[in-house]
Amino acid sequence: MGRGLGLRNVGVRFGGLTALDDVSLDVPPGTVTGVIGPNGAGKTTLFNVVCGFVSPDVGTMTLDGQPFRPRPHRLTRLGIARTLQGTGLFAGLTVLENVMTGANHRARTGFLAALFALPRADRDERRLRAQALNALDRLGVAAHAARLPGTLPFAVRQRVALARALVARPRLLLLDEPAGGLGDEDVRQLADLIRDLPGRAVDPCSVLLVEHHMDLVMSTCDQVVVLDFGRVVATGTAEQVRTAPAVVEAYLGAAVDDPAPTPGPRSAAAPQPPATADGR
Ligand SMILES: Nc1ncnc2c1ncn2[C@@H]1O[C@H](COP(=O)(O)OP(=O)(O)O)[C@@H](O)[C@H]1O
Ligand SMILES: [Mg+2]
Repeated sequence: MGRGLGLRNVGVRFGGLTALDDVSLDVPPGTVTGVIGPNGAGKTTLFNVVCGFVSPDVGTMTLDGQPFRPRPHRLTRLGIARTLQGTGLFAGLTVLENVMTGANHRARTGFLAALFALPRADRDERRLRAQALNALDRLGVAAHAARLPGTLPFAVRQRVALARALVARPRLLLLDEPAGGLGDEDVRQLADLIRDLPGRAVDPCSVLLVEHHMDLVMSTCDQVVVLDFGRVVATGTAEQVRTAPAVVEAYLGAAVDDPAPTPGPRSAAAPQPPATADGR
């Protein structure tokens, strides 16, 4: 029960279906932990539990050693930032203004006051602006500060969304399937980016990456947790889990040394080859 995020024996049921079963994991500060698993394994449920959208039926969570009961509207105050599938940027605000909304809770006066430049908000506004520019710069997209998100490629918008998350100086950054909708080259760039994320934050930050894109997780994460039918079937480095029989079984549902592995029952229903770059 150290620093960072900890889950102990977390269980979630939806009616008769067990979505998470006795899940325990740690996301230490300064590291990237990936959660992978086939469709229906419980990844989104796990993400929702950490965001407070779903309350676990059993189990406990801690953040930096303190008992932790997330609520969606209090995440920022708890030091948690997340990016969602898609980027969730405001279409009518510039890139810079979008990132400024991420630092909102840290300004003494509100973001709106800052936006409309009310006199007392002047100093806050300048500081917010500087912090937002700095975050954009750390993610290599400061040149787009004055643009509207809709005019930018998805990969750039995604960096902007990450800048907005980092400007809140989170202790914990949650990424939900960031590779969704990206092509091969963008996924490679995203991998470089994610690997450096804890270092781009101002303070040590834990990153939890929920993603079924196997290559992305394997190439970015210090620690990988593999879910199957709601249970943790393997935890370790990418190298350790890659060859774990339970993982091979979960992803392929077939013999390892089959020259052309037959897809498992779930992959047949929703094709999801584990080792390709367009894993969705
Ligand atoms: N709100 C819900 N109500 C009922 N069943 C759900 C709900 N959310 C998820 N499930 C079920 O829980 C299991 C895990 O789903 P999910 O967490 O979405 O898996 P993943 O994200 O790994 O694909 C699935 O069997 C899914 O159908
Ligand atoms: Mg999901």
